[in-house]
Amino acid sequence: MRYQEVYNGWKEAPEAFWAEAAKSIDWYRLWDKVFDPYADQYGRWFPGALCNTCYNCLDRHVANGRADQTALIYDSPITGNKQSFTYQELLDEVATFAAVLREGGIEKGDRVIIYMPAIPQAVIAMLACARIGAIHSVVFGGFAPNELATRIDDATPKMIVTASCGIEPGRVIAYKPLLDEAIELSSHKPQYCVVYQRQEVKAELISGRDYDWVDLVNEQRQSGEKADCVPVLATDPLYILYTSGTTGQPKGVLRDNGGHMVALHWTMKNIYDVNPGEVFWAASDVGWVVGHSYIVYAPLLTGNTTIIFEGKPVGTPDAGVFWRVISEHKVAALFTAPTAFRAIRKEDPEGELMGNYDLSGFRTLFLAGERADPDTLKWAEDKLKVPVYDHWWQTETGWTIAGNPAGIEPLPVQHGSSTVAMPGYDIQILDDSCVEVPRGETGAISVKLPLPPSCLPTLWNDDERFRESYLEEYPGYYKTADAGYMDENGYVFIMSRTDDIINVAGHRLSTGGMEEVVAGHTDIAECAVIGIADQLKGQVPAGFIVLNSGVNREPTEIEGEVVQMVRDSIGPVAAFKIAITVPRLPKTRSGKILRGTMRKIADGETYKMPATIDDPEILNEIKDAMSVRGLAK
Ligand code: COA
Ligand code: AMP
Repeated sequence: MRYQEVYNGWKEAPEAFWAEAAKSIDWYRLWDKVFDPYADQYGRWFPGALCNTCYNCLDRHVANGRADQTALIYDSPITGNKQSFTYQELLDEVATFAAVLREGGIEKGDRVIIYMPAIPQAVIAMLACARIGAIHSVVFGGFAPNELATRIDDATPKMIVTASCGIEPGRVIAYKPLLDEAIELSSHKPQYCVVYQRQEVKAELISGRDYDWVDLVNEQRQSGEKADCVPVLATDPLYILYTSGTTGQPKGVLRDNGGHMVALHWTMKNIYDVNPGEVFWAASDVGWVVGHSYIVYAPLLTGNTTIIFEGKPVGTPDAGVFWRVISEHKVAALFTAPTAFRAIRKEDPEGELMGNYDLSGFRTLFLAGERADPDTLKWAEDKLKVPVYDHWWQTETGWTIAGNPAGIEPLPVQHGSSTVAMPGYDIQILDDSCVEVPRGETGAISVKLPLPPSCLPTLWNDDERFRESYLEEYPGYYKTADAGYMDENGYVFIMSRTDDIINVAGHRLSTGGMEEVVAGHTDIAECAVIGIADQLKGQVPAGFIVLNSGVNREPTEIEGEVVQMVRDSIGPVAAFKIAITVPRLPKTRSGKILRGTMRKIADGETYKMPATIDDPEILNEIKDAMSVRGLAK
C-alpha cells in the first residue's frame, strides 16, 4: 500500500520527511535544524530558517511563469459581482496594500485585525500583512462587537482593516457601527482603521483614525510605492486565529510561517490531489481556519486558482449555485462543511439542479468541520458521482489530522470514518490513565508529541493556557478534545467532543461561553446550555434557565431577552434560538449539572440514570419541558 509506505516512511524518519517536503518552498536561508525538540512548548520546526509566506504565495509564481494565470476568483451571487485577479495583478494589489500598511506604521511583528466579509480585499489584506511580517488576526463577520473587543484586547492590534458592510440574505450588515462599538468596549485602542467602502453602505469615517482603503491605495499607486517581502524566521508568527475554548475567552491559535507553508503545500497534492494550475474551491469564509488554509494559503502556495465565494449554498439564488460555480470556474475539487450539503439536499432532494451544469471537470468533494453523517455523504456520492472524502482537523492544526490521501492513494471510503492518520500525526486513542485502548474501543483521541509542522506552537501570549488545554491531561500527547475510536485497519471515527464545544453549521462554538452570557440576566438563577442534534446544522444550542425565586414575569419574555442577549454578545453565528425555562436543573450530588444526560434526552438517545444524581425526578421535568417545545425525541 502506497499510503502505508509513505506513512511508515514519515514515522521512521520524520525530520527527513519534512525536510524533503520543505524543498517545495523557497527560503532565504535554510534552517539550523529541521526540528528542535527543546524549543518552546514541545519543539519548533525549521528554527533559524528565513522565509516569507507572501513571496511563496505570489512573487515566485510570477517569476516562474504564472503571472497571467488566474490566482483568485471572487464570485458573489449575493451582490451579483464577479472579479478575477491574475497572479501578477494580485501581487500588485498586495504589494501596494502592504505599502499602505507600512505607511501606517505597521512593522514586522505588529498585529493587524481584519474584520471583513468574503471579498478579495480580505485576502489582499492577509497577504499584505504576511508580506511585511505583520501578524494578522481575521475575525469572522458574524461575531458581535463584544467578541471583536475581546480579540482586540488580546491581540492589541495597531490597525484594524474592515469593510463598510457584510451582506446576508435579506439584510445588509453595516460593519462600521459594530467596529466602533467594539473599540469603545475594548481597553486597547488601535491607532488606525482602514475601511473598504462597499457600494451597499457607506461608512462614516472618524477623522484622524479611519481611512478609506481606496484613497490610501490610490495615493500609494501615485507615489509608485510598493512593499517588498520582509524575510521572517520560519518560527515567527504569521497569524493568530481565535477559536472557541471552554470559556468566553477565545483561544488565540498561533500559526508560524515556515512549518505552515511546508505542511500546507504538501497537502494540496497528497491529500486533495490537485495540481498547480487547477482550480480549488473552499466554500467557507476567510474568518475560519478552512478559509485561511484553503481559500488563501495552500492553493496560492501551490500555484492553484482559488475562489472566494460570497453567498450561501441555498437561496443565493438557489440550491444550484455550487454547481454553477463549479462548472463556470472549472473547479477540480471542492471543500466544504457537510451542513452545506444538508442545506442543498433539503431544497433539491433529487439533485435536479445539477443537471443544468457541466460538472465533467469536477473530480472530488472534501468535507470537514463537523461529523459527516453517512446519509448526507451517500447522497453526495450518488448525485455527484465523484469520490466524497470526509477529513478531520482543527483550527489548532490548520490541516488534516485524519483523511483520505487521495493524491497518494485513494483508500476505500468507510462512511462515518474520516479515514486514516496523515503523516505527521501518530494518533492514539487513550483511556483516562493515558494508556492506549484496544482497537475499536472509544477513548480520547490524542496525538503523540511532537505535532507536525503548521500545528500551533502555543497560544498567543498564553503558554500556560496552551499547556493546560492541550498538554497536561495526557503527558507526552496533544489532547484533541475529540472522542472516538480507531478500527483494526487504522480508520479513525470521530464521535464527539470531550469538552463543551459544539459545532453549529460547521462553526465551532462554546456552550460555556453562551452560559456566561445567559447567566448575566438579572432574573436568572442558573442555566445550562447544551448542543442538541439538528437536521440542517448538525447541532444547535439550547439553553435551560432557572429563574430567581420571586421573579414574577412571563418566562417567555425572559427567554426572548436571553436569546437576544446571546445574539448581541456573541453574534448571530451562535444561532442561539432556543431558551427554555425549567423549575430545576439535574445535578449530581456534588452539584455538577448533568449536561450530557440532558443532551441524550433531547436527542432521543438511551441514557443510564447517573448513579450520582441528586434527584432523578428532575430529569422528568426536563423531558416534559423539552416535549412542550417539541424537542425530546
Ligand atoms: N456576518 C453576519 N452574520 C452572519 C454571517 C456573517 N458573515 N454569517 C452568518 N451570519 C448569520 C446568519 O445570517 C444567520 O442569521 P439569522 O439568525 O438572522 O438567520 C446566523 O448568523 C446563523 O448563520 P448560519 O449558522 O450560517 O445559518 P444560515 O441559516 O445563514 O446558513 C448554512 C446555514 C448551512 C447554509 C450555512 O451555515 C453554510 O453555508 N454553511 C456551510 C459552509 C461553512 O460556512 N462552513 C464553515 C467552516 S468550513
Ligand atoms: P474547527 O477548529 O472549527 O475546525 O473545529 C474542530 C472540531 O470540529 C474538531 O475538534 C471536531 O470536533 C470537529 N470536526 C472537524 N472535522 C470533523 C470531521 N471530519 N468529523 C467529525 N468532527 C469534525
